[in-house]
Amino acid sequence: MDWNAYYQSHLATGEEAVARIKSGDRVVIGHACAEPSFIVEKMVENAKAYENVEIVHMVAMGKGAYCEPDMAPHFRHNSIFVGACTREAVADGRGNYTPCFFSEVPQMFHTTLPVDVALVQVTPPDAEGNVSLGVSVDYTREAIESAKLVIAQVNHHMPYTYGEGVLPVTDFDVFVEHDAPLIQLSPPKIGDVERAIGEHCAALIKDGDTLQLGIGAIPDAVLLFLKDKKDLGIHSEMFSDGVLELANAGVITNRKKTLHPGKFVVTFLMGTQRLYDFVNKNEDVVLYPVDYVNNPYVIAQNDNLVSINSCVQVDFMGQVCSETIGPKQISGTGGQVDFVRGASASKGGRSIMAMPSTVKGKISKIVPLLDEGAAVTTSRNDVDYVVTEYGVVHLKGETLHQRAKNLIAIAHPDFRPELIAAFEERFKCKY
Ligand code: COA
Repeated sequence: MDWNAYYQSHLATGEEAVARIKSGDRVVIGHACAEPSFIVEKMVENAKAYENVEIVHMVAMGKGAYCEPDMAPHFRHNSIFVGACTREAVADGRGNYTPCFFSEVPQMFHTTLPVDVALVQVTPPDAEGNVSLGVSVDYTREAIESAKLVIAQVNHHMPYTYGEGVLPVTDFDVFVEHDAPLIQLSPPKIGDVERAIGEHCAALIKDGDTLQLGIGAIPDAVLLFLKDKKDLGIHSEMFSDGVLELANAGVITNRKKTLHPGKFVVTFLMGTQRLYDFVNKNEDVVLYPVDYVNNPYVIAQNDNLVSINSCVQVDFMGQVCSETIGPKQISGTGGQVDFVRGASASKGGRSIMAMPSTVKGKISKIVPLLDEGAAVTTSRNDVDYVVTEYGVVHLKGETLHQRAKNLIAIAHPDFRPELIAAFEERFKCKY
C-alpha cells in the first residue's frame, strides 16, 4: 500500500479516534505546546465511557480539563512536571507526580510507564509520506514508537521541523485532521529585578559559549544583555521567542559549537507564532529526542556549555530546591540536573542558578535550611554559580562556611542580619 492510501484509510473523526481508548489505559499526551488540544477535548467529552484512564503528561500547557474534580472517576493524572493546570489535582490527591530527570522519560516508557495510547500532533504528510512532530520530539517520539495505539491530530499550523522528529505515516494508527493555532507561550514580563539578574548572568557568558536556557523571565532577561557577544550557540532543552532577536542580529551563529556546529539543538519549543514561523522548515534548527539532547554526556560534548536555570530556594550548603514549596510539588526536576551535570563535565562549562533574592520582598529565597519537606533538585555537590539581583557567587569547591558567606552576600539586605545570626549559631564562628 502506498503512503497516501495508508493515510486515507486511517483517517477518523475525533469521536471515532477517542472511542478506541479503553478504561485502565495509560495515555501519554504530546508535550507542552504540541498537545493535540482537539483530540484531548474529544477525550474529555467522552469521559463517561472511561474508568481510571491514566494521563501522563509533562509541561501541560492546555486546559487540563481531565484534572477537574468531577473527572476523578474517569481520569487520574500522573505528572512528570507539575504546572499551573495540574498543581491543584496533584495537591488534592487526584493526581500524582513521578520524580525523574527529563532525560530518563523515554526509557521509563519501557520500564515503569509502558504506554497504551499516545495522543500527538503532527504536520500534514510531505511529498514522501512523512509527517513532522514540529515543536516536540522530546518524549513524544518515544511515546509514538512504544505505544500500542497512536492517534495523531494533523494540523497545518504545526511547523515542520527537522532532526529526528520526521516519521513515516505508517508509524501512526489513526489520523484526525483538525486545523487550529498551536498553544502559545507569551513572552514573560521582565522587571527591574530580572534585568539585574540578567546582567549578572550575562557577565559570566563569553564569546563562543553554547547556552542552555530555561523557561521564563530570567532566561529572557539574560538574552537582553548578550547583544554585544559574538558567535554564541544553543544546545538547550528548549528555546522561546527571546532567542530570535539575537539569532536575527547574528549574535547567535552556532558557528563555534563543538557538537552540531551551525545548528540550534533543542528537544522542544514553546513560544508565539513568531517562533513557530522561525523554526518552520528551518534547516538550522534541529530537534532530537530528550534522551539525546538532555543526556549529560551529550551535553558535555559541547565545550564552554553554560546552563542557566532558576529555583525556589537555596540553603546555606548550596542545596537547591527548584520544584517544591515545602512538601507541595509546584513544578518538576525537568532538565535542570541534566544540564547542571552536563555543564560541569563540559570543557570550560559553567552552570548558573539564577533567582530573585526574595519572593515579592517578603520571603528570602536564601535560607539556612530548606523548608521542611522540600525536595533537593540540584545537590550541593552539583551546584556551581548562584546569581541574584545582588550579584554572582561561586559555590563549587568551597567549604560549608564559605558557601554560606557567599550566599548571604547576595541575599536581600533586609534578610542579611537574620541570616548572619543563623550562620553564627550553626557554624559556631563569626561571620
Ligand atoms: N517560598 C514560597 N513560595 C515561593 C518561593 C519560596 N521560596 N519561591 C517561589 N515561590 C512561589 C512564587 O511566589 C510563585 O507563586 P505564585 O504562582 O502563586 O505567584 C510560584 O512559587 C512560582 O515561582 P516563580 O518564581 O513565579 O516561578 P518561575 O516561573 O520563575 O519558575 C521555577 C521558577 C523554579 C519554578 C522553575 O524555574 C522550575 O520549575 N525549575 C525547575 C525545572 C527546570 O529548571 N527546568 C529547566 C529546563 S527548562
